[in-house]
Amino acid sequence: MTETVLKCEEITKYFYDPIEVKVLDKVSFEITRGEFISLVGKSGCGKSTLLYILSTMDRDYQGNLYIDKQLMGPKTGAELAQVRNEKIGFVFQFHYLLNEFTVLKNVMLPALKLKKYSEEEIEARAMKKLEVLGIGDLALRNAGQISGGQKQRVAIARPSSMIH
Ligand SMILES: Nc1ncnc2c1ncn2[C@@H]1O[C@H](COP(=O)(O)OP(=O)(O)OP(=O)(O)O)[C@@H](O)[C@H]1O
Ligand SMILES: [Mg+2]
Repeated sequence: MTETVLKCEEITKYFYDPIEVKVLDKVSFEITRGEFISLVGKSGCGKSTLLYILSTMDRDYQGNLYIDKQLMGPKTGAELAQVRNEKIGFVFQFHYLLNEFTVLKNVMLPALKLKKYSEEEIEARAMKKLEVLGIGDLALRNAGQISGGQKQRVAIARPSSMIH
């Protein structure tokens, strides 16, 4: 079964300062559940601009963005914040782990804050993600005591432990 989780219909974006420039011109595509997508293009072609729109942070564009079949355009700021919290995970170059907490706790924190599942369920899911990423044995280590690559994997496990 191919379920569409993200869909763009003719996304067009202009920047106006210092002059009017059309950065994205009717960009359309669909991503199905489980797909891995890379966005590639030369410097300045509009990759970050598109990602800001997909993240729902930038609302100043033409066209339609659907996340899990819901149209983002008409949503309020609070509704978009909820969508981001539940459905979107960002992994930045700088990982923002809390060094004084365990690896497991770091992965659990966003889901605990969301209060949608019990702590036991959140812990079980977080543990599973760590195992899939090959760092299950580090679960009880402090995040400040693991390698750079291991930290990146914790940062990947963190948002994805809320999304299933
Ligand atoms: N806030 C802005 N105002 C005006 N022009 C902008 C703004 N942000 C980006 N641009 C321009 O829009 C174009 C696309 O920028 P964007 O940051 O999306 O590129 P990119 O593909 O992410 O590039 P890179 O690979 O260098 O990160 C560039 O020409 C850039 O100069
Ligand atoms: Mg960029």
